[in-house]
Amino acid sequence: MAASVVPSTNNPYNLIVTEPPSFVRPYVIPDLSGPAVVLINDAIRAPINNLSSGGAFSLLQLNAQNYIRSGYGDLYQTPPHYHSRFHETFFCYKGEVTLWANGEARMLTVQDFGSMPTMQNHSYSFTEPDSTLLAFITPGGFEHFYWNVSVPLVDPTNAPFAPDIHTHFLESTFEAAIGPVFDVIPIFNSQFSYNFTNGTTNQSAPWHNGKTTAPNNAKEPYYLANNWSQRFLHRATGQVIQPRATAVQSGGNFTLSTMVMRGKAANETTVEYTFDVPQFFQILEGTMMIRMMCQTVAMSTGDIAFIPAGTAFSYWSEVAFTKVYLGCAPAGGLSDALVAQAEPWAYGVFPSYFGNLTNSTSA
Ligand SMILES: *[C@@H]1O[C@H](CO)[C@@H](O)[C@H](O)[C@H]1NC(C)=O
Ligand SMILES: *[C@@H]1O[C@H](CO)[C@@H](O)[C@H](O)[C@H]1NC(C)=O
Ligand SMILES: *[C@@H]1O[C@H](CO)[C@@H](O)[C@H](O)[C@H]1NC(C)=O
Ligand SMILES: *[C@@H]1O[C@H](CO)[C@@H](O)[C@H](O)[C@H]1NC(C)=O
Ligand SMILES: *[C@@H]1O[C@H](CO)[C@@H](O)[C@H](O)[C@H]1NC(C)=O
Ligand SMILES: *[C@@H]1O[C@H](CO)[C@@H](O)[C@H](O)[C@H]1NC(C)=O
Ligand SMILES: *[C@@H]1O[C@H](CO)[C@@H](O)[C@H](O)[C@H]1NC(C)=O
Ligand SMILES: *[C@@H]1O[C@H](CO)[C@@H](O)[C@H](O)[C@H]1NC(C)=O
Ligand SMILES: *[C@@H]1O[C@H](CO)[C@@H](O)[C@H](O)[C@H]1NC(C)=O
Repeated sequence: MAASVVPSTNNPYNLIVTEPPSFVRPYVIPDLSGPAVVLINDAIRAPINNLSSGGAFSLLQLNAQNYIRSGYGDLYQTPPHYHSRFHETFFCYKGEVTLWANGEARMLTVQDFGSMPTMQNHSYSFTEPDSTLLAFITPGGFEHFYWNVSVPLVDPTNAPFAPDIHTHFLESTFEAAIGPVFDVIPIFNSQFSYNFTNGTTNQSAPWHNGKTTAPNNAKEPYYLANNWSQRFLHRATGQVIQPRATAVQSGGNFTLSTMVMRGKAANETTVEYTFDVPQFFQILEGTMMIRMMCQTVAMSTGDIAFIPAGTAFSYWSEVAFTKVYLGCAPAGGLSDALVAQAEPWAYGVFPSYFGNLTNSTSA
């Protein structure tokens, strides 16, 4: 990371795009923009895909009502499967997404997280009527599976999903696609549990009633409840970082965090960063300003920014409270840099005073 690279003023791009670019460049894509496809119950978009990230990662957004059609026998869930190459992560942006992994399951509610390393049997289901799942997946390219087995969603309103557009499950297409080509390996007779109490199948482990922790390895699936896992305060800038997956849980392949930030003080200058890994931001609450390529964009709820490796950027909140989901692949981006300068912090929000602003430039 090196600060203060001044970008060229010879700028051919508008930062804001309406669909994901087919080559690597900085961009901001508004919520629910770009092509969508429908697979059984889900409307799927790929705001960051293999082409736009240069193969680094895909960020897919799946919207649905609670499942009304079965994906697998009598079960209202996706067919149980695993991936041999893709490390998949599940972030509930809104509503509820139930996630099974081997013998365990959790109902992920807003801003809960699940990590599914390779070779782990899993399945998911949307279990609330207006739900959104953000699936950050490394390496990039998993969207090819969805595009192969789905039909385009044509909806001029860009509704998250289209409840009145009914699609047929392309069963023969699906059967042809599962297997090694798209790395969706079906499994049967899995050991999933369906005995949920208070959103969990395991009463021995905390779920929204105590601290959830990530394992010290990159092999085990795990779940982190929003506001119930380790947090760090970057005191100088008033940012609270909640790591969801670090280099430890990704084998160095990615970092994912949520981060809360206070509004920028009038006398505060923003820091310009450049990292050698590609990164993204998605706005969860509030409004974040981002500046890159000599353009400043106000990002509101759901908007996504992609920042290629080597692109200088700065960001700040102009409202009192902004929360973002951010990540990079491989590990070594903004949240790693901030956590390295942060202290453990017990709260979901920043302290009620402004930090030492002169220190913030070293962040
Ligand atoms: C993703 O992009 C990378 C680099 O461009 C390429 O090597 C890889 O084959 C692509 N993956 C898929 C699944 O298309
Ligand atoms: C789906 O993938 C298969 C196997 O790679 C390919 O033959 C087929 O043309 C693809 N279909 C679509 C609609 O992308
Ligand atoms: C996945 O399911 C298969 C078939 O039931 C089983 O043989 C295998 O051990 C399971 N894998 C894990 C990691 O539990
Ligand atoms: C289901 O979970 C409840 C609460 O943990 C437990 O008391 C009950 O024995 C479980 N039922 C089965 C069939 O495992
Ligand atoms: C479920 O939550 C309720 C309300 O917090 C609590 O009283 C009850 O003991 C919980 N059940 C289990 C099995 O933990
Ligand atoms: C339930 O949680 C406990 C405590 O974390 C763990 O030891 C156990 O393996 C879990 N059970 C299942 C079925 O995964
Ligand atoms: C990290 O990514 C590399 C390249 O895709 C892969 O070979 C490796 O298995 C990944 N590590 C983990 C822990 O998934
Ligand atoms: C900047 O402004 C804040 C709030 O208005 C104030 O608390 C802080 O002391 C100021 N810092 C400097 C360095 O002037
Ligand atoms: C968790 O914290 C966020 C702010 O960081 C807040 O908006 C949200 O309501 C909290 N969630 C719960 C379940 O308390």
